[in-house]
Amino acid sequence: MRVPEVSAFDSHCVVSDESVASNNRSSMEGHKTGLSRSSMDEWNMNDSKLPRLTLATLPTPLHRLQNLSDELATEVWIKRDDLTGFAMGGNKVRKAEFIFADVLAQKSDVVLTIGATQSNHACVVAAAARRLRIECHLFLAGQMSEQPTGNLLLDRLAGAELHFVNSFDERSPAMEAFAEVLRAKGRIPYTIPLGGSNAIGAYGYVVGFQELENQLRSLPPRPTRLVFASSSCGTYAGLLAGKALLDSEIELLGVRVDLDPNPEETICAVADACAQRIGLTKRFRSEEVHLKPDYAGEDYGVPTEEGSEALTKLWQSEGILLDPVYTAKAMAGLIDLARRGEFINERVVFLHTGGAPAVFTSIPRLEFHTQPEATELH
Ligand SMILES: Cc1ncc(COP(=O)(O)O)c(C=O)c1O
Repeated sequence: MRVPEVSAFDSHCVVSDESVASNNRSSMEGHKTGLSRSSMDEWNMNDSKLPRLTLATLPTPLHRLQNLSDELATEVWIKRDDLTGFAMGGNKVRKAEFIFADVLAQKSDVVLTIGATQSNHACVVAAAARRLRIECHLFLAGQMSEQPTGNLLLDRLAGAELHFVNSFDERSPAMEAFAEVLRAKGRIPYTIPLGGSNAIGAYGYVVGFQELENQLRSLPPRPTRLVFASSSCGTYAGLLAGKALLDSEIELLGVRVDLDPNPEETICAVADACAQRIGLTKRFRSEEVHLKPDYAGEDYGVPTEEGSEALTKLWQSEGILLDPVYTAKAMAGLIDLARRGEFINERVVFLHTGGAPAVFTSIPRLEFHTQPEATELH
């Protein structure tokens, strides 16, 4: 059983042993929580519908961003999934808890996955596999550097075997071909798709959504939007299925960080598959998916000016580190939308999905936003 941590965010923090206990109590009282009886009957804090391996330290804190709220004249809260507590893996840890439970259930002896060179997902897979003493192969688009940094360094540290291909499109075929070779040798390979974004991985965010809902219940008036970075679609899909399961009214607002076509379809397909696995009859429609496409910039992995500004702002005003590939672009979206008046009289929660290792690579290009203010020393 998980022991909720008393977080360091003292007065802003709504998570404590007592609040979790009282949330559990109040979840039994549908009229107070806004949960319909049917969704409550289906759901209980401690009963996972899929096998789970504990990797994360949960619940992650939820707290107010005081300085940013003052600056934007919008109340902004943050759900700290950057603090999931395993392998610096952010949102990927929630997915990995269920994916690796399945790896063990399938009795697989070797795990394979794909990603970008600085993939947060690949890094978590490498670390989880190592912890379970399972061989791990990563198929990454790009090249090995002489002095690896960020996630690549951590992949090496975990002892994962790295396979580099020239383009994103070559990764899956290379992984599948390698899995075939392993099968022919009598091994039991387990292949994990990009970002861990399948029905099982997405379930991590069904549970993540339930955790957030429990925290939000002690926060009247309730926030109306949840803003977060979306890429391989598993996070959004899990949140969508979780929202349906709990009959929640909070709007899910994904900020796109890449230019892939038809993310709405992918999100619905993964959410459908996830719902089916846990016995939910609901099927999802593209119109239920709300994505902001305007903050992705030139391409996936290419930082934007606004993202760099957002990253610097959060570091300077709150001491919170965003990353240039995902969360800085998502926060740039939140800031821009707040400035345009989209959130008037609303309370917004930013889901911080992690990504810190990428800051310590050559990706960020932050030099234009880091001039220290002149201070007089006495
Ligand atoms: C730090 C970070 N934030 C957000 C995302 C987006 O999540 P998803 O791929 O599930 O859409 C990812 C993964 O791609 C990530 O590594």
